[in-house]
Amino acid sequence: MNTREAAPHDTSHFSWARKGGALALRDWLAHLARSGRLATIDQPVALEHELAAIAKRLDGTKAAFFTQAGGHRVPVVSGFMSRRAWIAEALGVDETQLLARFSDAAERPLASRLVSRDEAPCQQVVHTKNIDLHALLPIPTHSEHDNGPYITAGLVIARNPRTGVQNVSINRIQVHAADRMAILLLPRHLHAFQKAAEAAGDALDVAVAIGVDPLTMLASQAISPIDCDELEIAGALHGAPLPVAQCVSNGVHVPAFAEIVIEGRILPNVREMEGPFGEFPKYYSAQEAREVIEVTAVTHRKDPIFHTIVPAEMEHLLLGAIPREATLLSHLQRSHPNVKDVHLSVGGVCRYHLWVQFEKKREGEAKNVILCAFGAHYDIKQVVVVDTDVDVHDPAEIEWAIATRFQADRDLVVIEGAQGSPLDPSTTVGQPEDAPAYLQGISAKMGLDATRPVAYASHVFTRVRIPGEDTVDLNALVEADNAAFDTYLGDGHV
Ligand SMILES: Cc1cc2nc3c(=O)[nH]c(=O)nc-3n(C[C@H](O)[C@H](O)[C@H](O)COP(=O)(O)O)c2cc1C
Repeated sequence: MNTREAAPHDTSHFSWARKGGALALRDWLAHLARSGRLATIDQPVALEHELAAIAKRLDGTKAAFFTQAGGHRVPVVSGFMSRRAWIAEALGVDETQLLARFSDAAERPLASRLVSRDEAPCQQVVHTKNIDLHALLPIPTHSEHDNGPYITAGLVIARNPRTGVQNVSINRIQVHAADRMAILLLPRHLHAFQKAAEAAGDALDVAVAIGVDPLTMLASQAISPIDCDELEIAGALHGAPLPVAQCVSNGVHVPAFAEIVIEGRILPNVREMEGPFGEFPKYYSAQEAREVIEVTAVTHRKDPIFHTIVPAEMEHLLLGAIPREATLLSHLQRSHPNVKDVHLSVGGVCRYHLWVQFEKKREGEAKNVILCAFGAHYDIKQVVVVDTDVDVHDPAEIEWAIATRFQADRDLVVIEGAQGSPLDPSTTVGQPEDAPAYLQGISAKMGLDATRPVAYASHVFTRVRIPGEDTVDLNALVEADNAAFDTYLGDGHV
């Protein structure tokens, strides 16, 4: 993977986000407001449950902007990327080009541009002493049984202790004391960094950037190699190097146009209780001892906006889905160039069920595609492979392909006892409540080959079509007022 020095993309479609070469969440929010897609709630709203309830009701229709959340002067926003079409618009492409655009950026990241503190809006105000996160920030409690306030939309940025290269991920963070937070680290890159630092007896410096633009949010979810700084993918998505600032209390670089940054260190050999917390599968994950961030500084804009993601709603699901689809598509195409498209279904919480559109040339290939998908990410639990005449984005089409092209004794692949998502509650059945991490998330994988045979008698597998069904001009043919029908009835036909 090469880091590019120049921006080859046409960036004219990013005009909503560009202000003197800068990129900011507030510009996207202004764009949504101008186009009737932002709802302002200008009344006192409780941080505990009420804010999340309102945002959940608006999810997928309008972003919610709360001006008086929990009596704080800092407003809260939620749901500003809760539709595929909005995300495509933010990227400046048609929905059909969404995955290609993301893959292109993921494969050709663009080095970030370090700016001084004066040029970094996220450091306009700096707090390094007597930090009280609850007093500084309006941090909501979302679901009924959540164990208190959580930061759900923070980009957690850290450096690989071995190589110094940064990594970005979103992690749920429970704020359980004025300057201490517990964080869930599933076994990906941040987890590996923390383990490496801990083995050396060191704390891991981190920054949590809250309130970044949609493209930088998306970039954080790329499934990329360990030494890929996702901020460079954000740069490629923007078509220009992302301006970054060095934290005031450590060496981590953060998006300079973020609204808020919490700086800190993950302490070695310290664990504190975190959870329960309502997660993306729409179930609670249990209380467990987790890694702890000790806060060293908070910086923010003069007039910051706090972003919260309502767990399991469309903003959460799509944020994970689109970068995953893009990277899964590239991964599958590396071995199987005839894979045409993929979709992570909403019913499969945009994580577990992958639908693959494939132009099969030889018998057996669809099963290779299934196995390749299982290896691409441990979250993938079910894969359905369909032919190119099936719309991979339409659940009814997928079910139709399974109903008419799949036979369980012949076309089913089951892998027992693989690693799956530890957040899938069905993986806990038969495990003790206090199962150690190495025994969690054990899951079976199921693949369905719902493709037709390569060679088939046309009368068997030819899809019913009516010539002209897509091209007849209904506007020219259909009467607006049914006058002819009324005349017919008037003639005493009934
Ligand atoms: C809203 C949201 C919350 C997430 N929460 C967590 C979390 O608590 N722990 C975690 O390990 N991953 C979480 N993820 C997934 C990671 O951010 C994602 O897998 C990321 O790509 C991991 O980055 P890495 O592979 O560079 O480590 C979350 C994703 C989203 C969109």
